[in-house]
Amino acid sequence: MSLISTGSYAPKFSLGNDHLTTLVDTSSEWIEKRTGIKKRNISAGENTSDLAYEAGKQAIENSNVNLEDIDLVLVATITPDHFTPSTASMVQGKLGIKNAVAFDISAGCTGFVYALGIASSMIKNGIAKNALVIGSEVLSKVLDYTDRNTCVIFGDGAGALVLTKDLNDKIKDIYLQGEYDTAHNIQIQSVNVNNAMHTSQDASTLPKLSMNGGEVYKFALGALSELIEVILERNNLTNDDIKYIVPHQANFRIIETVAKKLGIDINKFYMNIENYGNTSSASIPIALAEMNNLGLLKKGDKIIIAGFGAGLTWGSILIEW
Ligand code: UT7
Repeated sequence: MSLISTGSYAPKFSLGNDHLTTLVDTSSEWIEKRTGIKKRNISAGENTSDLAYEAGKQAIENSNVNLEDIDLVLVATITPDHFTPSTASMVQGKLGIKNAVAFDISAGCTGFVYALGIASSMIKNGIAKNALVIGSEVLSKVLDYTDRNTCVIFGDGAGALVLTKDLNDKIKDIYLQGEYDTAHNIQIQSVNVNNAMHTSQDASTLPKLSMNGGEVYKFALGALSELIEVILERNNLTNDDIKYIVPHQANFRIIETVAKKLGIDINKFYMNIENYGNTSSASIPIALAEMNNLGLLKKGDKIIIAGFGAGLTWGSILIEW
């Protein structure tokens, strides 16, 4: 399988750290020093399928694949427009793609890695030939802008890849993991059961993202190390064989700590968190699109993408570009 092209999109409005100090008790210095974030894009009404559509359209335009030949559309998201239809079905409709399998993947910030693993497996098994795989989030719609633990961290955006069947398979290894987080350290609570037979005791109505940052931080350090170490070991590779590691952009301190622990040059880790914040499922494909546009990805380069987040979920993929 080949990875043919990339695309990305972020809403126009950029919310800087200074602006956040007018909303919650925080400072630009704290946010930048503790997370690496300077600004993030925030939707002015566009929903997740709108962002996904823009990123997907760009990826298709950058490819040599015709719309009618796309037979799989996957959207990784934790902020879908609706329970149903899926965001992927909506994107399929907006793009005018006929006769494609379309569904969403919800796997926290690991969503895009899971989605790429699924698309790759479906292509290898002959179920699909050309896939559009998107990570898209409008996290601002589930953020509480009075909660400084979360509202300073997350942003909105989308990234996309087009993949096609190729005998020379570029997806070299897929490592996916998950373990139920009984403490719900990251969650977006949604609708409670209120029906003719039952009245919920919990009055909360609107979905809101909550995070126990400290606990997730500890998990993230272990997960990211494991994701890199397992891929290297299973493929008899060393750090030197890898051109770039593209981690989920959660916090630059997580990446810096793991780089030090594993003895990997920090410059091998692609980071753009300062401009986007944490965009969950979208962070890795946005980074890949940016790297591609900058000409950083050369044919034959080995890269590792590594995601970790709610679920808990974590996963990494070894790609030869
Ligand atoms: O995307 C899915 C995966 N997500 C992650 O991997 C996120 C992992 N977690 C993190 O990145 C970090 O835990 C955070 C960025 C969320 C928080 O950073 P931290 O260094 O763990 O901060 P903390 O929660 O331990 O808080 C340290 C101090 C506290 O004050 P005291 O008790 O030391 O006086 C907090 O009250 O910083 C305070 N604080 C803030 N101060 C200013 C917490 N949030 C803020 C804030 N502005 N926004």
